[in-house]
Amino acid sequence: MTHPSASDIGRAVERLRGGGLVAFPTETVYGLGADALDADAVTRVFEVKGRPAENPLIVHVSGVEMARRVVSSWPGVAGALAGAFWPGPLTMVLPRAGCVPDVVTAGGTGVAVRVPDHDAAVALIEAFGGPIVGPSANPSGYLSPTRAEHVRERFDEETVLVLDGGPCRTGLESTVVDLTVEVPRILRRGVIDASLILEKTSVEVDEPQLPDEPEGAVVSPGVLGPHYQPDAPVELVTDIARLSARLKECTGRAVLLSPPGRSVRVQPPHEAINMPGLASGYARRLYAALHEADAKSPELILVVLPVLKDSPVWEAIRDRLRRAAG
Ligand code: TXA
Ligand code: MG
Repeated sequence: MTHPSASDIGRAVERLRGGGLVAFPTETVYGLGADALDADAVTRVFEVKGRPAENPLIVHVSGVEMARRVVSSWPGVAGALAGAFWPGPLTMVLPRAGCVPDVVTAGGTGVAVRVPDHDAAVALIEAFGGPIVGPSANPSGYLSPTRAEHVRERFDEETVLVLDGGPCRTGLESTVVDLTVEVPRILRRGVIDASLILEKTSVEVDEPQLPDEPEGAVVSPGVLGPHYQPDAPVELVTDIARLSARLKECTGRAVLLSPPGRSVRVQPPHEAINMPGLASGYARRLYAALHEADAKSPELILVVLPVLKDSPVWEAIRDRLRRAAG
């Protein structure tokens, strides 16, 4: 495991204090950090990512105490969820405090907060001494980065200082849950699902059927429309017969992501990337595999859609794959 040194953290803090941007590792994906209370610094995050101004950012904090500084109320459910899942891949939307600039929440009255489960991220926030925003450190719409090199491939070091913490353990973005409504609801799926929340906290949350949500369903602005997409087109296949047919039709190179836990061989010029069989391993590997596939500039990336249901994580994986396929 790669650990940023104290001097790496020191340089990153200096960058943040100067209003600059730092990519930092978390357990989910790399975040693009800036001082959350500095509107100009946050505006640069939007510019550098090419992110639409109406898509709000998650504020990363080192613990409950700092979280309470950026919200105007801390209901019992927030305490219960934080107690069960922080630090970890759960983001809560709560009424925002006055110190949070408009640009962070896209003008909205709710602010999203989470404590990342990664020593380097927490060390950075603590050394900086305040909250930092952290959208995924990718150009808007592209695949999320799960390794430092994914960030370096897309941004130069002048613009974004990268704190290398090695590969991300979880590999899928955090679950986003809205606590500003009467019945808490999940806005973005992640490895923490409604059943786990109920089991650990007895809190009931609504889980919209994503991405085929009923019309008018509330979802996070950032999960609407195409997202998490490589440059090459992605096509999902569910059966092997269809897969062979698509490979034959493809005149250029296709890169295939295998069914979970099954190794497959394909004829050149096509290539295959074998995917892990366990949901946690598949999730950890997913974005790196899609980055690898995309780097080959293929005509098509074919993914055998996992149909497994032995873990709720598969649901989040299918969600991201459907979005990658657009
Ligand atoms: O795991 C993660 O959440 C990563 C790491 C770096 O922490 N961050 C991340 O940020 O995925 P981003 O910006 O790529 O996705 C944040 C999601 C978007 O869908 C955004 O619309 C939603 O959270 N969101 C942020 N603030 C919100 C708010 N105030 N109300 C509703 N949704 C919000
Ligand atoms: Mg993102």
